[in-house]
Amino acid sequence: MHSNFSACRTARYFLFIVLLVLIAASSEVQAAPKPSATHLLTEYLENPLGIDVPQPRLSWQFVQNARGARQSAYQIQVADSLEALKSGKANVWDGGKVFSSRSVNIPLPAKQLRSGMRCYWRVKVWDADGAPSDFSAPAWFEMGLLNKEDWQGVWLTAPMADGSAFLGPPQETAPFFRFEFALDKPVKRARAYVTGLGYYELYLNGGKVGDRVLDPAYTTFSKRVLYSAYDVTNQVKQGRNAVGAILGKGWYGGPPCVIAQLNIEFRDGTRASITTNRDWKYSLGPILENSIFHGETYDARLEQPGWDSPGFEDSKWRPALVAHPPTEKLSAQMMQPIRVVETIKPRKLRRLKDGSWVFDFGQNFSGWCRLKVSGPAGTEVILRHAELVHPNGAVNQDNLRGAKATDRYILKGEGVEIYEPRFTYHGFRYAQIEGFPGRPNLGTLTGCVVHTDFPRRGAFECSNPLLNKIQSNSVWGYRTNWHSIPTDCPQRDERQGWLGDAQSTSDMGFYNFDAAAAYTNYLQDIQDVQGEDGRIPDTVPYVYGQNPGDPMWAGAYLFIAWDLYRHSGDNRLLERHYEGFKRYVDMLAMEAKDYILTRNQYGDWLSPIEAKEDRVPKELISTCAFYRSAWIAARVAEIIGRPDDAKRHNDLCSKIANAFNAKFFNPETNNYGNASQLSNAFPLYLGIVPEGKRKSVLENLVKDVVVNCNGHLSTGFVGTRLLMDVLCNEGRADVAYTIVTQRDYPGWGYMIENGATTIWERWDLRVGRGMNSHNHPNHGSISAWFYRMVAGIIPRADAPGYEHFDIKPFVAGDLKEAKASINTIRGLAASHWKRDGGGISLDVTIPANSRASVWVPKVGLTDVQVKEDFTIIWRNGKFIPGVPGINGASDAGDWIKFEVGSGSYSFWLEPRGGAEIFHTILFRERMGQRDVR
Ligand code: BGC
Repeated sequence: MHSNFSACRTARYFLFIVLLVLIAASSEVQAAPKPSATHLLTEYLENPLGIDVPQPRLSWQFVQNARGARQSAYQIQVADSLEALKSGKANVWDGGKVFSSRSVNIPLPAKQLRSGMRCYWRVKVWDADGAPSDFSAPAWFEMGLLNKEDWQGVWLTAPMADGSAFLGPPQETAPFFRFEFALDKPVKRARAYVTGLGYYELYLNGGKVGDRVLDPAYTTFSKRVLYSAYDVTNQVKQGRNAVGAILGKGWYGGPPCVIAQLNIEFRDGTRASITTNRDWKYSLGPILENSIFHGETYDARLEQPGWDSPGFEDSKWRPALVAHPPTEKLSAQMMQPIRVVETIKPRKLRRLKDGSWVFDFGQNFSGWCRLKVSGPAGTEVILRHAELVHPNGAVNQDNLRGAKATDRYILKGEGVEIYEPRFTYHGFRYAQIEGFPGRPNLGTLTGCVVHTDFPRRGAFECSNPLLNKIQSNSVWGYRTNWHSIPTDCPQRDERQGWLGDAQSTSDMGFYNFDAAAAYTNYLQDIQDVQGEDGRIPDTVPYVYGQNPGDPMWAGAYLFIAWDLYRHSGDNRLLERHYEGFKRYVDMLAMEAKDYILTRNQYGDWLSPIEAKEDRVPKELISTCAFYRSAWIAARVAEIIGRPDDAKRHNDLCSKIANAFNAKFFNPETNNYGNASQLSNAFPLYLGIVPEGKRKSVLENLVKDVVVNCNGHLSTGFVGTRLLMDVLCNEGRADVAYTIVTQRDYPGWGYMIENGATTIWERWDLRVGRGMNSHNHPNHGSISAWFYRMVAGIIPRADAPGYEHFDIKPFVAGDLKEAKASINTIRGLAASHWKRDGGGISLDVTIPANSRASVWVPKVGLTDVQVKEDFTIIWRNGKFIPGVPGINGASDAGDWIKFEVGSGSYSFWLEPRGGAEIFHTILFRERMGQRDVR
């Protein structure tokens, strides 16, 4: 498409561009409908329990179904009861009318918010003409336990049989705890605050509290343990009650321990707290072994029915021990928890010669199996999980390395028994069942998909099924690798927060999911482990790799924050982390010699040319990472008002760029480093190629892709994301499209040709022992490219949080149509382009209180009839004003760029060809929100 177009541009032609907009009758200028505010969020969460920041921030979506709708003012009201709020008594805070278009992340003043306090809030908004909305429907948030003293209980653990040593390896049993208490008055409201290491489950009066699994989140426990808050008003009662907890091993190295507190408010206004104390008792139960890597062994014969109900006979239970507090700080888990987010049915079942059975779920995922079985007591059913199968059909666990990924269930023999494990998870597509009494069927197992439960917010689809499949695999890979932190893989003996993996996928995370709260927590995780000297390790929490980490890995601290900022507009985040960013950049600056940073662990990890001798110079990658980190630090310093720092970082950037060019650029060949794709793409990406050389470097890059690599990439964890963006931004979307549509090695299509349902760690197919995960998120970063480049939705850093964004699709190759929609923090943003005859239509939706630059690609040169009912808005290189919401336009090379306000628009470019070619671009207006999902 691109070359086609360029060729035409070289021809001498008179460019006659006409843009039309159909004014639908209903769109005639009329009074704008009443505005409203919806989707109220506190700290990115809907009605959260357990907020523990002193100044919670509130966001809403300003809604007005009109062109160019803007909020001109707002009023927030906060009250301590719903009744008060509804009657207009904002007894916590009434901010009054504030003249501002701001609708995102507005902090409440730091006052009056007590531990456990429930606040109801609502907002009123005014539109551009000063017309007010009604107050929104109320939302609420509830404060957590803000002070150390709010925790009145002690940490409990369980002693071993000899009374001294703690539970732990080798048996890894999961201890059960219980305590009974009486409440002598009717309960008005009750909250449970709880956490336990490695994992806990809380029980009250015969039932589990909440639907969280694998809670709490994986943090650096010595620094920060997250607790969860639950509304248990309906689970406690006047009279006798029983509370219980089960503890799993999780990621915790010490003896399992728990702290819990029930805060109860009685109808008469008095209060009581039930806490973990010395009178709690413990016992071992049916979970004989639990390990994230190896699985769980559960002997149902050891169940103690009624253990979590009052009146249970617990004389054989032993007193729990008070444990040393395992952490410096308890803070609330202000992110979506891990849940069983969906269940899937197996597609196939196959009997093996040895009598075992293999289930195929048809999808690689993270989680576990729910087993349905009946048989004699003592029968042991074994479930082995794997991503792959051997040629004989048996599960192939070779690539799990040390992880056994095996659950065992021993029947109690009482009819139909349903079992699912609690304190483990597996990455698998196949499950092999051994010892099953009778003949299993497809209903025997249900796949439970388990990961951090952030809501989906984006969708992408296009006319090429291969790209849709890549998108699907990428999203499966991404979400099944989010287990309270972004992990590298869900199956083998690793599953850690490798920062290189986290930074390459954060952007796609923000496009596809409401992941802001989760990454806010993860950035805190990074801050928790940062050294005094600025160092950041390869993994967070720090388990594997080195410290300081590889500059492309450790730089994730800044890279992820920058992505989050662009998508959310969250300034406080930048303020909170700026000192950390600065310390990190200063450390690199001290370490670099003449502005070249040589320390590097992983190069362009797992690139197809990695094993070759002439690999990308590692110091080239590290120095680029250094530049990128300093560049982000400079931007952040500018944003948060530190001009001196900004200048210092900007100077550093110039020096790094000069040193980099002097060392790695060959002005004779116009190549960087080893002339590989990454060597040339990285400086192009950073914008540090010397003036006048950009084109030649790009030509070399394109030549390497097209000629040397026959249309394929040669990049790994570092280079792939950059390469695809650079090619588009430099005008060679056609080459990027060639890469992404390959079906042979190396490329996404090759994985799919080989049956992949997620994204592999390596570009090549390996099924043996060693490092070859079949569910690694990294190369799924291409999903961001689909949104950003193919559908063209790009949040801007200069007006972040979609206040002003670009819709700039790159139309390339044989792609006929692409669409994406994102429920941004301000509302629905959507782009849908389609080749239409010889031209192109582009339907866009801009949320209210936002604006966009819409780049209409000048594509297609065949003769097409001009339709009559369209309004011309661009002719002879000039913008013709008149259509509401379209405020201006300019010629922007391969695009015509329109500045538009909120609303839905249909642009239509209709070209004409001939000896004298002229384009006619039609813009057709459609009313109403278009759902492009
Ligand atoms: C992990 C990676 C990680 C890498 C560091 C691997 O074992 O699985 O994804 O980034 O180590 O090179």
